[in-house]
Amino acid sequence: MRGKKISIIGAGNVGSTVAYSLAVQGTVHEIVLLDSKTDIAWGKALDMSQAAAVIRAHTIARVAENYSDIADSDIVIIAAGAARKPGMSRDDLLFINAEAVSGICKRIKEYCANSFVIVITNPLDAMTYVALKETGFDKRQVIGMAGLLDSSRMASFIYEKLGYGSGQIRATVLGGHGDDMVPLHRYSTVAGVPITDLLSQADIDEIVRRTKNAGAEIVGYLQSGSAYYAPALATSMMCETILRDAKQIYPCAVLLEGEYGYENVVTGVPIVLGANGAEKVIEVTLSDAETAEFRRSVQSVSKLIDKLKEKGFYA
Ligand code: 2OP
Repeated sequence: MRGKKISIIGAGNVGSTVAYSLAVQGTVHEIVLLDSKTDIAWGKALDMSQAAAVIRAHTIARVAENYSDIADSDIVIIAAGAARKPGMSRDDLLFINAEAVSGICKRIKEYCANSFVIVITNPLDAMTYVALKETGFDKRQVIGMAGLLDSSRMASFIYEKLGYGSGQIRATVLGGHGDDMVPLHRYSTVAGVPITDLLSQADIDEIVRRTKNAGAEIVGYLQSGSAYYAPALATSMMCETILRDAKQIYPCAVLLEGEYGYENVVTGVPIVLGANGAEKVIEVTLSDAETAEFRRSVQSVSKLIDKLKEKGFYA
């Protein structure tokens, strides 16, 4: 049987940290990094292959000299593009990153027609839409990462407040990976106990606020660049889930075609992730307030998609 191959477009902080976590996870045989800064990418790739050897894993990381080197990847990860600077929203990156993602997807279509595509580039939901349109792939093949990241951030804030239960926290965030994402405290539990039974409303409100602002909080500290450890681990977990056909429910950004009452828009919803990619969208029951918040979030993504259309991104 052929070993598993994952290619990562963009070997900056996020791309190379995804590669590192894949290298030490042991599921993948070959990791290919594609970046315009080839020498830096080679330095990182060699370091990662050697890290894999430390833990007796079999992964080899290497650098693509050109796009044909990504051919026949099982998964291609798009981590290229600009990261936001302090004071910027993810949406401010729309046109510059849409240009980059469009170009990358044309090459993915050429060399990896059967691979899954995981999009990390921001604004993530709109970029996942661009990737779907440019590749023309089946909607189950193209998946945006962020729901798992946002839910993990919420879980971390819940743990910070409670001081117990860390491995038992299940948090849920729906909607776009933007300022109006929807942290669902009603679907967030610790060992099955709803957090509403464990925390005051004021504490829950603070958790929700921090979750929505979590990326910006880190950008504020880093000053140049944005978060990469948690985004990378969330991505490598998605890869492992697909390659092992683990069929886990994760919130991910996928194309909606009627689910939740929306058409032709990408947003974060719980899906079953397995060997066929985004195998099924799970429709959870939302209260009136949650429905309204979710609508606001979906509308924000729709506005970005409309802006791209106005600029002529899709015929
Ligand atoms: C984040 O939320 C960069 O969007 C990414 O940290």
